[in-house]
Amino acid sequence: MPSKPSTTAVREEPPQAQAIALELAARRIPPRYRDAFADHPDVLVWTSEIARRGKPGPGGVPGIDHGPSLLIAGPTGTGKTHQAYGAVRTLLAAGVRLRWAATNTADLHAQLRPRQGHDPERAFQELAQSPLLILDDLGAAKQSEWTEEQTYRLIDRRYTSMLPTLITTNVPIAELRNVLGDRVASRLAEMTTRVILQGPDRRRSPASAPARTTVAAPPPTTAPGRTR
Ligand SMILES: Nc1ncnc2c1ncn2[C@@H]1O[C@H](COP(=O)(O)OP(=O)(O)O)[C@@H](O)[C@H]1O
Ligand SMILES: [Mg+2]
Repeated sequence: MPSKPSTTAVREEPPQAQAIALELAARRIPPRYRDAFADHPDVLVWTSEIARRGKPGPGGVPGIDHGPSLLIAGPTGTGKTHQAYGAVRTLLAAGVRLRWAATNTADLHAQLRPRQGHDPERAFQELAQSPLLILDDLGAAKQSEWTEEQTYRLIDRRYTSMLPTLITTNVPIAELRNVLGDRVASRLAEMTTRVILQGPDRRRSPASAPARTTVAAPPPTTAPGRTR
């Protein structure tokens, strides 16, 4: 199974700067996804769009700017988290300079819960302001009024700041409103392109064919990735 996408946004042989960026990212990516590259066509459209919109940073190297977010939905084991970390690695391999953060719903709640010696507001700001954020398994944890408010706050900040966010969820699109509340679901509807992964649980049938996919909303205009 190809693990490396063929897109103009990715160089076959990342030069040294890209290799270093991937090496640094590997220290923060969970080992299971350390070699992941996004290989879903619609995820690659998104990475190309983000790369294209990137504003030049020091030395003309493209960096992350405002841009669309991506909602990767689908049942357990269809490869959502793989595509999310893979998208970050794909951008780094394409030479996009980016700062990123990652959390999942359960960790998010833990990070934002006040406790002694911990500054939840600082944790919130780091996630809210990160140029690129992976928010994994949105809606997976039990919701309460407090968790719904925290999720709303974070999504609203990402929405108003127009910062690219990679969101994965097991929640069927039609259920998002019930599970996450209308305020969150409404913002997600506007800010994200949706990719729905389907197919068998890859954990149970790892040799299975790649997940079949459908796109729920029209993808952004395809644009070639920036190559320097
Ligand atoms: N495109 C892919 N190529 C190779 N392995 C994959 C791919 N997508 C997922 N996997 C593997 O399948 C398993 C489940 O993927 P994961 O992303 O954790 O699923 P989900 O987040 O949808 O529950 C993991 O072991 C992951 O490494
Ligand atoms: Mg996952």
